Amino acid sequence: MDDTPVIELNNITKIFGNRPDVALELLKQGCTKDEVQEKTDQVVGLKDVSLSVKKGEIFVVMGLSGSGKSTLIRHVNRLIDPTSGSIKVNSQDILGMDLEALRQFRRHDVAMVFQNFGLLPHRNVLDNVAYGLEIRGDEKTARHEIAHEWIERVGLSGYENSRPHQLSGGQQQRVGLARALAMDTSVLLMDEAFSALDPLIRSGMQEQLLELQNSLHKTILFITHDFDEAIRIGDRIAVLKDGEVVQTGRPEDIILKPANDYVLDFVRDVNRARVIRVGAILDKSQMKPCDVSVPRLTTCEDVLPLFARHEWVGVLDDGGARIGGVSAKQVIAALARHSEAVS
Ligand SMILES: Nc1ncnc2c1ncn2[C@@H]1O[C@H](COP(=O)(O)OP(=O)(O)OP(=O)(O)O)[C@@H](O)[C@H]1O
Ligand SMILES: [Mg+2]
Repeated sequence: MDDTPVIELNNITKIFGNRPDVALELLKQGCTKDEVQEKTDQVVGLKDVSLSVKKGEIFVVMGLSGSGKSTLIRHVNRLIDPTSGSIKVNSQDILGMDLEALRQFRRHDVAMVFQNFGLLPHRNVLDNVAYGLEIRGDEKTARHEIAHEWIERVGLSGYENSRPHQLSGGQQQRVGLARALAMDTSVLLMDEAFSALDPLIRSGMQEQLLELQNSLHKTILFITHDFDEAIRIGDRIAVLKDGEVVQTGRPEDIILKPANDYVLDFVRDVNRARVIRVGAILDKSQMKPCDVSVPRLTTCEDVLPLFARHEWVGVLDDGGARIGGVSAKQVIAALARHSEAVS
Protein backbone atom coordinates (compact mmCIF):
# COMPACT_ATOMS: atom_id res chain seq x y z
CA MET A 1 0.00 0.00 0.00
CA ASP A 2 1.26 3.50 -0.71
CA ASP A 3 -0.10 6.86 0.33
CA THR A 4 -1.50 7.90 -3.06
CA PRO A 5 -5.15 8.87 -2.56
CA VAL A 6 -7.39 7.00 -5.02
CA ILE A 7 -10.87 7.94 -3.78
CA GLU A 8 -11.22 11.46 -2.38
CA LEU A 9 -14.46 12.82 -1.03
CA ASN A 10 -14.24 16.45 0.01
CA ASN A 11 -17.00 18.06 2.08
CA ILE A 12 -19.77 16.04 0.48
CA THR A 13 -23.28 17.00 1.53
CA LYS A 14 -26.31 15.30 0.02
CA ILE A 15 -29.83 16.54 0.58
CA PHE A 16 -32.73 14.44 -0.72
CA GLY A 17 -35.65 16.67 -1.62
CA ASN A 18 -36.60 19.63 -3.79
CA ARG A 19 -35.39 22.47 -1.56
CA PRO A 20 -31.76 21.60 -0.88
CA ASP A 21 -30.75 25.25 -0.43
CA VAL A 22 -33.05 25.72 2.53
CA ALA A 23 -31.76 22.52 4.11
CA LEU A 24 -28.13 23.51 3.51
CA GLU A 25 -28.73 26.83 5.21
CA LEU A 26 -30.26 25.14 8.26
CA LEU A 27 -27.30 22.74 8.43
CA LYS A 28 -24.98 25.73 8.36
CA GLN A 29 -26.89 27.18 11.29
CA GLY A 30 -26.20 23.99 13.22
CA CYS A 31 -29.50 22.10 12.86
CA THR A 32 -29.40 18.31 13.15
CA LYS A 33 -30.62 15.86 10.49
CA ASP A 34 -33.89 15.38 12.40
CA GLU A 35 -34.45 19.12 12.82
CA VAL A 36 -33.86 19.75 9.11
CA GLN A 37 -36.34 17.01 8.26
CA GLU A 38 -38.92 18.33 10.68
CA LYS A 39 -38.68 21.91 9.44
CA THR A 40 -38.27 21.36 5.70
CA ASP A 41 -39.20 17.77 4.88
CA GLN A 42 -35.77 17.42 3.25
CA VAL A 43 -33.65 14.38 4.16
CA VAL A 44 -29.99 14.86 4.98
CA GLY A 45 -28.26 11.86 3.35
CA LEU A 46 -24.70 13.00 4.01
CA LYS A 47 -23.34 15.96 5.90
CA ASP A 48 -19.90 17.40 5.15
CA VAL A 49 -18.27 14.02 4.57
CA SER A 50 -14.56 14.01 3.76
CA LEU A 51 -12.48 10.89 3.38
CA SER A 52 -9.54 9.69 1.41
CA VAL A 53 -8.94 6.06 0.47
CA LYS A 54 -5.36 5.16 -0.32
CA LYS A 55 -4.10 2.96 -3.11
CA GLY A 56 -4.33 -0.73 -2.22
CA GLU A 57 -6.29 -0.10 0.96
CA ILE A 58 -9.48 -1.77 2.17
CA PHE A 59 -11.42 1.14 3.62
CA VAL A 60 -14.58 0.25 5.51
CA VAL A 61 -17.53 2.57 6.08
CA MET A 62 -19.64 1.40 8.98
CA GLY A 63 -22.81 2.68 10.60
CA LEU A 64 -26.36 1.79 11.57
CA SER A 65 -29.17 1.44 9.06
CA GLY A 66 -30.05 4.83 7.59
CA SER A 67 -26.72 6.42 8.53
CA GLY A 68 -25.89 7.12 4.86
CA LYS A 69 -23.59 4.24 3.86
CA SER A 70 -25.24 3.42 0.52
CA THR A 71 -25.62 7.11 -0.24
CA LEU A 72 -21.89 7.55 0.33
CA ILE A 73 -20.67 4.65 -1.81
CA ARG A 74 -23.05 5.53 -4.66
CA HIS A 75 -21.37 8.92 -4.96
CA VAL A 76 -18.10 7.24 -5.90
CA ASN A 77 -19.40 5.95 -9.25
CA ARG A 78 -21.86 8.82 -9.55
CA LEU A 79 -25.03 6.84 -9.18
CA ILE A 80 -25.79 9.82 -6.92
CA ASP A 81 -24.66 13.43 -7.41
CA PRO A 82 -23.86 15.45 -4.30
CA THR A 83 -25.64 18.65 -3.34
CA SER A 84 -22.25 20.17 -2.57
CA GLY A 85 -18.63 19.08 -2.36
CA SER A 86 -16.12 17.49 -4.72
CA ILE A 87 -15.10 13.93 -5.59
CA LYS A 88 -11.94 12.65 -7.22
CA VAL A 89 -11.18 9.08 -8.26
CA ASN A 90 -7.67 8.37 -9.55
CA SER A 91 -7.11 12.15 -9.52
CA GLN A 92 -10.00 12.70 -11.96
CA ASP A 93 -12.78 15.11 -11.02
CA ILE A 94 -15.71 12.78 -11.61
CA LEU A 95 -18.34 15.50 -11.15
CA GLY A 96 -16.93 17.34 -14.14
CA MET A 97 -17.25 14.34 -16.46
CA ASP A 98 -19.65 14.41 -19.40
CA LEU A 99 -21.75 11.35 -20.21
CA GLU A 100 -19.16 9.71 -22.42
CA ALA A 101 -16.34 10.22 -19.91
CA LEU A 102 -18.59 8.86 -17.17
CA ARG A 103 -19.41 5.80 -19.27
CA GLN A 104 -15.71 5.11 -19.82
CA PHE A 105 -15.02 5.68 -16.12
CA ARG A 106 -17.69 3.16 -15.09
CA ARG A 107 -16.43 0.59 -17.59
CA HIS A 108 -12.76 0.83 -16.82
CA ASP A 109 -12.10 2.42 -13.43
CA VAL A 110 -14.69 1.25 -10.89
CA ALA A 111 -16.70 -1.93 -10.37
CA MET A 112 -19.41 -2.48 -7.79
CA VAL A 113 -20.69 -5.49 -5.86
CA PHE A 114 -24.29 -4.96 -4.76
CA GLN A 115 -25.91 -6.05 -1.52
CA ASN A 116 -28.62 -8.12 -3.14
CA PHE A 117 -26.38 -9.71 -5.75
CA GLY A 118 -27.96 -7.81 -8.66
CA LEU A 119 -27.73 -10.81 -11.00
CA LEU A 120 -29.65 -11.15 -14.25
CA PRO A 121 -32.13 -14.01 -13.63
CA HIS A 122 -32.37 -15.27 -17.21
CA ARG A 123 -28.64 -15.50 -17.79
CA ASN A 124 -26.45 -18.34 -16.65
CA VAL A 125 -23.47 -17.83 -14.34
CA LEU A 126 -21.00 -17.51 -17.20
CA ASP A 127 -22.95 -14.74 -18.90
CA ASN A 128 -23.65 -12.97 -15.63
CA VAL A 129 -19.94 -12.86 -14.86
CA ALA A 130 -19.19 -11.73 -18.42
CA TYR A 131 -21.94 -9.09 -18.38
CA GLY A 132 -19.79 -6.04 -17.65
CA LEU A 133 -17.29 -7.13 -20.31
CA GLU A 134 -20.09 -7.51 -22.83
CA ILE A 135 -21.35 -4.00 -22.10
CA ARG A 136 -17.80 -2.81 -22.50
CA GLY A 137 -17.72 -4.33 -25.98
CA ASP A 138 -15.37 -7.30 -25.48
CA GLU A 139 -16.03 -10.06 -28.01
CA LYS A 140 -17.54 -13.34 -26.91
CA THR A 141 -14.53 -15.67 -26.82
CA ALA A 142 -12.40 -13.15 -24.95
CA ARG A 143 -15.06 -12.32 -22.37
CA HIS A 144 -15.91 -15.97 -21.77
CA GLU A 145 -12.26 -16.76 -21.22
CA ILE A 146 -11.97 -14.04 -18.57
CA ALA A 147 -15.29 -15.07 -17.00
CA HIS A 148 -14.16 -18.70 -16.77
CA GLU A 149 -11.00 -17.63 -15.00
CA TRP A 150 -12.87 -15.65 -12.35
CA ILE A 151 -15.51 -18.32 -11.87
CA GLU A 152 -12.69 -20.68 -11.02
CA ARG A 153 -10.98 -18.20 -8.70
CA VAL A 154 -14.11 -17.63 -6.64
CA GLY A 155 -14.70 -21.40 -6.39
CA LEU A 156 -17.67 -21.82 -8.72
CA SER A 157 -16.23 -24.11 -11.39
CA GLY A 158 -18.92 -26.46 -12.65
CA TYR A 159 -21.71 -23.91 -12.17
CA GLU A 160 -21.12 -21.99 -15.43
CA ASN A 161 -24.45 -23.03 -16.90
CA SER A 162 -26.56 -22.67 -13.76
CA ARG A 163 -29.10 -19.89 -13.44
CA PRO A 164 -28.98 -17.61 -10.37
CA HIS A 165 -32.11 -19.17 -8.82
CA GLN A 166 -30.38 -22.56 -8.80
CA LEU A 167 -27.61 -21.21 -6.56
CA SER A 168 -27.43 -20.59 -2.82
CA GLY A 169 -27.12 -17.02 -1.53
CA GLY A 170 -23.39 -17.47 -0.96
CA GLN A 171 -22.88 -18.79 -4.47
CA GLN A 172 -24.86 -15.90 -5.95
CA GLN A 173 -22.72 -13.47 -4.01
CA ARG A 174 -19.64 -15.14 -5.48
CA VAL A 175 -21.06 -14.59 -8.96
CA GLY A 176 -21.51 -10.90 -8.10
CA LEU A 177 -17.94 -10.73 -6.85
CA ALA A 178 -16.57 -12.54 -9.94
CA ARG A 179 -18.50 -10.17 -12.21
CA ALA A 180 -16.96 -7.14 -10.51
CA LEU A 181 -13.45 -8.65 -10.46
CA ALA A 182 -13.67 -9.62 -14.15
CA MET A 183 -13.78 -5.91 -15.00
CA ASP A 184 -10.17 -5.64 -13.83
CA THR A 185 -10.70 -2.17 -12.37
CA SER A 186 -8.33 -0.67 -9.82
CA VAL A 187 -11.28 0.35 -7.61
CA LEU A 188 -13.86 -2.02 -6.16
CA LEU A 189 -17.00 -0.77 -4.38
CA MET A 190 -18.78 -3.26 -2.12
CA ASP A 191 -22.11 -2.25 -0.54
CA GLU A 192 -22.95 -4.70 2.25
CA ALA A 193 -21.81 -7.41 -0.13
CA PHE A 194 -21.74 -10.10 2.55
CA SER A 195 -24.50 -8.88 4.86
CA ALA A 196 -27.21 -11.20 3.55
CA LEU A 197 -25.15 -14.34 4.17
CA ASP A 198 -25.21 -16.50 7.27
CA PRO A 199 -22.23 -16.24 9.60
CA LEU A 200 -20.14 -19.21 8.43
CA ILE A 201 -20.50 -18.46 4.73
CA ARG A 202 -19.93 -14.82 5.43
CA SER A 203 -16.75 -15.56 7.28
CA GLY A 204 -15.59 -17.69 4.32
CA MET A 205 -16.30 -14.84 1.90
CA GLN A 206 -14.35 -12.39 4.07
CA GLU A 207 -11.41 -14.77 4.04
CA GLN A 208 -11.65 -15.21 0.30
CA LEU A 209 -11.74 -11.44 -0.24
CA LEU A 210 -8.63 -10.96 1.91
CA GLU A 211 -6.87 -13.76 0.07
CA LEU A 212 -7.73 -12.31 -3.34
CA GLN A 213 -6.65 -8.88 -2.18
CA ASN A 214 -3.20 -10.27 -1.32
CA SER A 215 -2.56 -10.74 -4.99
CA LEU A 216 -4.83 -8.08 -6.53
CA HIS A 217 -3.95 -5.01 -4.41
CA LYS A 218 -7.13 -3.19 -5.39
CA THR A 219 -8.44 -0.10 -3.70
CA ILE A 220 -11.60 -1.29 -1.98
CA LEU A 221 -14.38 0.73 -0.40
CA PHE A 222 -16.40 -1.72 1.68
CA ILE A 223 -19.70 -0.95 3.39
CA THR A 224 -21.00 -2.86 6.39
CA HIS A 225 -23.14 -2.37 9.48
CA ASP A 226 -21.20 -5.07 11.30
CA PHE A 227 -18.24 -3.98 13.41
CA ASP A 228 -16.69 -7.46 13.57
CA GLU A 229 -16.63 -7.53 9.79
CA ALA A 230 -15.21 -4.01 9.69
CA ILE A 231 -12.27 -4.80 11.96
CA ARG A 232 -11.59 -8.10 10.27
CA ILE A 233 -11.17 -6.77 6.79
CA GLY A 234 -10.60 -3.02 7.16
CA ASP A 235 -7.18 -1.37 7.03
CA ARG A 236 -9.05 1.74 8.13
CA ILE A 237 -12.63 2.36 9.17
CA ALA A 238 -14.88 5.42 9.02
CA VAL A 239 -17.92 5.39 11.29
CA LEU A 240 -21.04 7.15 9.98
CA LYS A 241 -23.87 8.51 12.11
CA ASP A 242 -26.81 10.47 10.69
CA GLY A 243 -24.85 11.16 7.52
CA GLU A 244 -21.75 12.40 9.32
CA VAL A 245 -18.35 10.77 9.77
CA VAL A 246 -17.86 10.64 13.53
CA GLN A 247 -14.52 8.82 13.55
CA THR A 248 -11.90 7.54 11.11
CA GLY A 249 -8.99 5.35 12.08
CA ARG A 250 -7.35 1.95 12.11
CA PRO A 251 -9.39 -0.76 13.85
CA GLU A 252 -7.26 -0.62 16.97
CA ASP A 253 -7.42 3.18 17.14
CA ILE A 254 -11.20 2.97 17.16
CA ILE A 255 -11.26 0.19 19.74
CA LEU A 256 -8.76 1.89 22.03
CA LYS A 257 -10.31 5.36 21.71
CA PRO A 258 -13.92 5.36 20.55
CA ALA A 259 -14.80 8.99 19.75
CA ASN A 260 -18.26 8.96 21.34
CA ASP A 261 -20.95 6.73 22.83
CA TYR A 262 -22.28 5.76 19.38
CA VAL A 263 -18.89 4.27 18.47
CA LEU A 264 -18.48 2.79 21.93
CA ASP A 265 -21.69 0.81 21.43
CA PHE A 266 -20.12 -0.93 18.43
CA VAL A 267 -16.82 -1.48 20.22
CA ARG A 268 -18.20 -2.88 23.46
CA ASP A 269 -18.59 -6.51 22.46
CA VAL A 270 -15.45 -6.90 20.42
CA ASN A 271 -12.86 -9.47 21.42
CA ARG A 272 -10.16 -6.89 22.08
CA ALA A 273 -7.35 -9.42 22.48
CA ARG A 274 -7.72 -10.51 18.87
CA VAL A 275 -7.69 -7.01 17.47
CA ILE A 276 -5.32 -4.89 19.49
CA ARG A 277 -1.77 -5.31 18.30
CA VAL A 278 1.28 -4.75 20.44
CA GLY A 279 2.44 -1.97 18.11
CA ALA A 280 -0.52 0.14 19.24
CA ILE A 281 0.24 -0.09 22.95
CA LEU A 282 4.01 -0.47 23.16
CA ASP A 283 6.25 1.55 25.45
CA LYS A 284 8.78 3.22 23.18
CA SER A 285 11.16 3.94 26.03
CA GLN A 286 11.41 0.25 26.90
CA MET A 287 14.58 -0.63 24.98
CA LYS A 288 16.53 -2.75 27.46
CA PRO A 289 17.57 -6.16 26.15
CA CYS A 290 14.77 -8.76 26.15
CA ASP A 291 14.92 -12.55 25.79
CA VAL A 292 12.04 -12.53 23.38
CA SER A 293 10.70 -10.09 20.78
CA VAL A 294 7.66 -10.08 18.51
CA PRO A 295 6.67 -8.14 15.35
CA ARG A 296 4.54 -5.03 15.98
CA LEU A 297 1.49 -6.61 14.32
CA THR A 298 1.32 -9.45 16.88
CA THR A 299 -2.05 -9.47 18.66
CA CYS A 300 -2.44 -9.23 22.43
CA GLU A 301 -3.93 -12.72 22.34
CA ASP A 302 -0.72 -14.12 20.88
CA VAL A 303 1.65 -12.17 23.09
CA LEU A 304 -0.03 -12.90 26.44
CA PRO A 305 1.30 -16.48 26.89
CA LEU A 306 4.85 -15.16 26.62
CA PHE A 307 4.48 -13.31 29.91
CA ALA A 308 4.37 -16.61 31.78
CA ARG A 309 8.15 -16.67 31.42
CA HIS A 310 9.16 -13.10 30.53
CA GLU A 311 8.60 -9.79 32.25
CA TRP A 312 9.02 -7.75 29.07
CA VAL A 313 8.59 -8.63 25.44
CA GLY A 314 10.42 -6.56 22.83
CA VAL A 315 8.52 -5.14 19.86
CA LEU A 316 10.03 -5.05 16.36
CA ASP A 317 9.14 -2.97 13.31
CA ASP A 318 8.54 -4.51 9.88
CA GLY A 319 12.26 -4.50 9.16
CA GLY A 320 13.03 -6.37 12.39
CA ALA A 321 14.44 -3.36 14.30
CA ARG A 322 13.54 -2.96 17.96
CA ILE A 323 11.04 -0.12 18.54
CA GLY A 324 10.11 -0.64 22.20
CA GLY A 325 8.56 -3.19 24.51
CA VAL A 326 5.36 -4.31 26.25
CA SER A 327 4.72 -5.72 29.70
CA ALA A 328 1.90 -7.97 30.88
CA LYS A 329 0.53 -5.05 32.85
CA GLN A 330 0.27 -2.88 29.74
CA VAL A 331 -1.42 -5.59 27.72
CA ILE A 332 -3.94 -6.34 30.44
CA ALA A 333 -4.68 -2.64 30.91
CA ALA A 334 -5.36 -2.27 27.17
CA LEU A 335 -7.68 -5.26 27.23
CA ALA A 336 -9.49 -4.14 30.37
CA ARG A 337 -9.99 -0.56 29.30
CA HIS A 338 -13.64 -0.99 28.50
CA SER A 339 -13.26 2.59 27.95
CA GLU A 340 -15.57 5.43 28.41
CA ALA A 341 -15.60 7.20 25.08
CA VAL A 342 -13.02 9.94 24.84
CA SER A 343 -14.65 13.25 24.17
N1 LIG B 1 -33.61 8.47 -2.95
C1 LIG B 1 -33.82 8.90 -1.71
N2 LIG B 1 -34.78 9.82 -1.44
C2 LIG B 1 -34.98 10.29 -0.19
N3 LIG B 1 -34.27 9.89 0.89
C3 LIG B 1 -33.31 8.97 0.69
C4 LIG B 1 -33.03 8.42 -0.61
N4 LIG B 1 -32.01 7.53 -0.49
C5 LIG B 1 -31.68 7.52 0.82
N5 LIG B 1 -32.46 8.37 1.53
C6 LIG B 1 -32.34 8.69 2.99
O1 LIG B 1 -30.99 8.97 3.26
C7 LIG B 1 -30.58 8.40 4.50
C8 LIG B 1 -29.41 7.44 4.29
O2 LIG B 1 -29.87 6.32 3.54
P1 LIG B 1 -28.88 5.16 3.07
O3 LIG B 1 -29.63 4.26 2.17
O4 LIG B 1 -27.65 5.77 2.56
O5 LIG B 1 -28.58 4.45 4.47
P2 LIG B 1 -27.71 3.14 4.77
O6 LIG B 1 -26.73 3.52 5.83
O7 LIG B 1 -27.20 2.57 3.53
O8 LIG B 1 -28.81 2.16 5.44
P3 LIG B 1 -28.95 0.55 5.33
O9 LIG B 1 -27.96 -0.03 6.32
O10 LIG B 1 -30.36 0.32 5.80
O11 LIG B 1 -28.71 0.11 3.92
C9 LIG B 1 -31.82 7.76 5.09
O12 LIG B 1 -32.42 8.67 5.97
C10 LIG B 1 -32.70 7.51 3.87
O13 LIG B 1 -34.06 7.53 4.21
MG1 LIG C 1 -27.50 0.72 2.50
